[in-house]
Amino acid sequence: MRLSLRFLVPLLVALAAFAYAAVPFVDGMMQRWFVRDLDERSALIAYTVEEPLRQLLADATPARITAFFNRLTQDQQLYAVAYCPPGATKPIASERFPADIDCRAVDANPRSDRPATANHGSLHLTAAAIGPDIDTGGDLVVVNDTSFIASRRAETRRYLFYFFVALGAMVALITVVIAQLSWRGWVQGLRALLHGEGLWKPASVIAAPELRPFARDVRELVRELERQYRPHNGDGRIWTQETLRSALRSELRGNDVIAVSNREPYIHIKTDQGIRVQRPASGLVTALEPVMRACSGVWIAHGSGSADRDTVDRNDRVGVPPERSSYQIRRIWLTPEEEAGYYSGFSNEGLWPLCHIAHVRPTFRSSDWNYYGKINAKFAAAVAAESKTPDPIVLVQDYHFALLPQMIRERLPAATIITFWHIPWPNPEAFAICPWRDELLQGLLGSSILGFHTQFHCNNFLDTVDRLLEARVDRETFTVTRGGQTTAVRRYPISIEWPPAALAHVPTVERARKLVRERLGLPDNHKLGIGIDRLDYTKGVLERFQAIARLLEREPRWIGRFSFIQIAAPTRGTIGEYRDYFDRVGQLAQQINGQYPDARYPPIILIAEHHEPELVYEYHRAADFCFVSSLHDGMNLVAKEFVAARDDEQGVLILSRFAGASRELPEALIVNPYDADQCAAALNVALTMSPDEQRDRMRLMRSIVREFNVYRWAGRMLFDAAALRQRDRFRVDLAVPGRV
Ligand code: F6P
Repeated sequence: MRLSLRFLVPLLVALAAFAYAAVPFVDGMMQRWFVRDLDERSALIAYTVEEPLRQLLADATPARITAFFNRLTQDQQLYAVAYCPPGATKPIASERFPADIDCRAVDANPRSDRPATANHGSLHLTAAAIGPDIDTGGDLVVVNDTSFIASRRAETRRYLFYFFVALGAMVALITVVIAQLSWRGWVQGLRALLHGEGLWKPASVIAAPELRPFARDVRELVRELERQYRPHNGDGRIWTQETLRSALRSELRGNDVIAVSNREPYIHIKTDQGIRVQRPASGLVTALEPVMRACSGVWIAHGSGSADRDTVDRNDRVGVPPERSSYQIRRIWLTPEEEAGYYSGFSNEGLWPLCHIAHVRPTFRSSDWNYYGKINAKFAAAVAAESKTPDPIVLVQDYHFALLPQMIRERLPAATIITFWHIPWPNPEAFAICPWRDELLQGLLGSSILGFHTQFHCNNFLDTVDRLLEARVDRETFTVTRGGQTTAVRRYPISIEWPPAALAHVPTVERARKLVRERLGLPDNHKLGIGIDRLDYTKGVLERFQAIARLLEREPRWIGRFSFIQIAAPTRGTIGEYRDYFDRVGQLAQQINGQYPDARYPPIILIAEHHEPELVYEYHRAADFCFVSSLHDGMNLVAKEFVAARDDEQGVLILSRFAGASRELPEALIVNPYDADQCAAALNVALTMSPDEQRDRMRLMRSIVREFNVYRWAGRMLFDAAALRQRDRFRVDLAVPGRV
């Protein structure tokens, strides 16, 4: 609206100025037109009466001439008529001829074509030479009443005024409408272009074509601003495993670092060929493992592999990584009932859907809750047992352990507990449906620091505590204080190691492209998209397939020329919802492929099995684009892995706006996975994007993932922990002995 006013006010002022100048001009012109008309009319009268008047002048008395003139002036505008004989001053005139006008007032030039004129008050006199002889004859004087001109001019001025007011109103209205529409259109267009949309999409959101030439410049500008902004947002340094290690040495020298998570980083499995080590498909593990390699601490986790018991020492510990041990896994054993209640039940059927809000109802059972409490206590005991000092740094990971921080606090009051919640935190209303909401919040508030991926989730957490608990919530320092314990709530966007260790064993992009196409029996120039996920309903795999189907409907030229590889790691198979999802994903892939029986290559290639990191990176390198379509995701590290894999600076990332990663990677094609048309448009853009544009986007994303890597994630949390410990130390130092 403000924008419209900025257009409108000068426009209306200009219009008023124009009206101010135009009205007198039009008025004067009207006056001249009327007078000219009267003169012409008078000349016509003179011409018409000339002949009869000659006759009368030749043989009639002045009284008959006056009577003739009186008849002529019955027309209301023809006021009077007179004849001035040559040399006379008193005219022979009709009755109304003003007595104070004599023949000298008008004297026609007999040689001129134009009549002589004069004004007398509201009367206009026109004289035309007439007579028996043109040289010696007198003048016919026609007198018109011009008062009607004044009233018509007033009327005209009034109409002109109305006209300009109406014109002003119309112009204002049109300006407001056009300004609003075009501003929205331009902004939309500009945004769309900056997001890489706008090349093919629904008409309502097509970017203004005139913006395209500017898009590149604007993007450059945005990047420049971002570059200037980023160092202030970060701490300027590039974190590596080595800098993290030396930071730990300088800031947290001699401290115990204990990590706790449900999923272990290395799983030992019995196979026909003997015991094999597997790396689980887990974002948490991907992020924390390199950190633990740098910290050399202990990682406490559920021993879930079939050969796990065979590979631990008598303290249930095993050194990892297997090739070069740099830290210990301490395995915790769970019975099938415990696993079903604590892991499948409360964690994954209760908290997981509760926090993701992905249209699957959370299920809460008191038996699951009891197991959840029991297993949290079991891990708390393990932390206490593993701690070599009374004040270890404990890294508690994820929603499996909401009660653990407070349990550790009770056993080790001086511990620095950093809890990281890897999944979204919902709004208070959504969270409040959990029957044990208070206990969960109280448990988490045992933490010294509680971390989330995004500020949005931090805000949701504070709102939830504010709404549900008796606690002091300080929104300036982002802390919660309850029962003398303060918890800082902080944003730490998780990431991956840079460069990813697995990349060392992955073929070049060119080779990977060839290998993958050969493996799948596809031609060299076949376009490939990739999706790599645990087969979880929050990942939006069905929505992804629907977008592919939509693409083929709208752009049939891709049929047989493009395939989408979905690598789907089976997960949480004991839970019905996951088994159903597995089936539905398979059925939809089959159904879409079935629609194109004549295509030489199927649109969707579904590989439902676990892949080790090296193979995952190989697929990333082989693809033309990667599609991450999470319906809700704390961060999503697959997006970052794809970026890390592309050291050729090619490849397009299509990324759900509901994944935390979209906040850090705006150069991806950001989509709403629920909008099949929009996703199909993004797929088409990805398949047709120029190598230059791919490079521009990929270069920026790589600089972000490189700088904001997992060492920085861990480093910032551990630095914050060191600062807290320092502060606590000062608090003790300043206490006066003996004073209560
Ligand atoms: O996203 C939360 C999370 O814990 C991730 O860290 C990990 O990707 C996933 O869940 C692992 O699930 P699970 O351990 O149940 O297989």
